[in-house]
Amino acid sequence: MELLRRQHDEARARLPEPAYDYFAGGAGDELTLAENQEAWRRVWLRPRHGLGLGAGRPAVELLGAPMAAPIVLAPAAAQGLLHPEGELAVARAAADAGLVMCLSTRATTDLADVAAATAAPKWFQLYMEPDRSRVQRILQRAAEHGYAQVVMTIDLPVAGRREREWRHGPVAFPPGVALTDHLGAGTGRAYKPPVGGWYAPTWEDVGWVGQAGGLPVVLKGVLTAEDALMAEQAGAAAVAVSNHGGRQLDGVVPTAVALRDVAAALEGRLPLLVDGGIRSGADVVRALALGADAVLVGRPYLWALAAGGEAGVLELLTALIEDTARSLALVGAATPSEVTAAHARLRSW
Ligand SMILES: Cc1cc2nc3c(=O)[nH]c(=O)nc-3n(C[C@H](O)[C@H](O)[C@H](O)COP(=O)(O)O)c2cc1C
Repeated sequence: MELLRRQHDEARARLPEPAYDYFAGGAGDELTLAENQEAWRRVWLRPRHGLGLGAGRPAVELLGAPMAAPIVLAPAAAQGLLHPEGELAVARAAADAGLVMCLSTRATTDLADVAAATAAPKWFQLYMEPDRSRVQRILQRAAEHGYAQVVMTIDLPVAGRREREWRHGPVAFPPGVALTDHLGAGTGRAYKPPVGGWYAPTWEDVGWVGQAGGLPVVLKGVLTAEDALMAEQAGAAAVAVSNHGGRQLDGVVPTAVALRDVAAALEGRLPLLVDGGIRSGADVVRALALGADAVLVGRPYLWALAAGGEAGVLELLTALIEDTARSLALVGAATPSEVTAAHARLRSW
């Protein structure tokens, strides 16, 4: 979409190179980063005509949340690097558009401040940490402030080999911007993540998060049928097929391909989300045809934030919702739930 290209180019022109590379980059040789988008292009749509559909109605209800379209704003760290209003601008734009935003553990705005910005439904993304009592306090705060789901990310036991980030070293935060610890000690309080940075979660942790947090768990980062079944056994309320936007292991399966495997394994028992390279309403319809109930979108709204703040994000989300409505009408489905496997034909992967 022309709008995505424009916002990307504006963001690139505005951001210091280390920040741009942090948001744009993938792991390794960035094969997976590219293949995520290419894989959707290998899904051809099979429209049905003669149905008198002048417009599609993209609104859905997913996991108890009404959404103007089956599109969720993917959790993404450090949005204060992109715009002074960071996550607050994103939360307001998502609320105005009627979409759900998912706030990252590694945000630059405390979860209470984001909750106070809008009354719209919100989700909280969790990176598990070794100190369970800390995690429990964060989850309790998320629940108290009205977050409806915890999106637990399982695909980051260690960081991927992100060469663009390594080249620049740690990205400098503008004055007044820092990662929050989500414990309410004050917005912008500098928080140094635990030494080594990351924790490798287990299936037992997934069950624990579901019990300890009191919030339903969306398990994010699943790429195989096997792990989808493990997620189900561990009590997840939903599964998000994701390879972290190509930022973890380079060479993993593109998410469009993984989605089919996971959908076949779960046979509709759990709601399914997918992300990675979704860039248009047609991509949303492709994901629905391959078995998703909704998509998450990452980099496009990050570029929109850098390019135009809250108004830029709202412009992008409005365009994606409209394009989803148009694509539904064009494929011959009145609503997202009417999209079926028969609407897609696959080129060989
Ligand atoms: C700069 C950046 C930061 C991210 N931070 C997080 C994060 O904090 N937690 C998380 O679960 N996923 C994170 N992700 C992954 C996204 O949630 C999502 O899986 C991915 O961006 C989707 O692919 P797309 O950017 O091609 O739409 C991040 C992605 C990017 C690009």
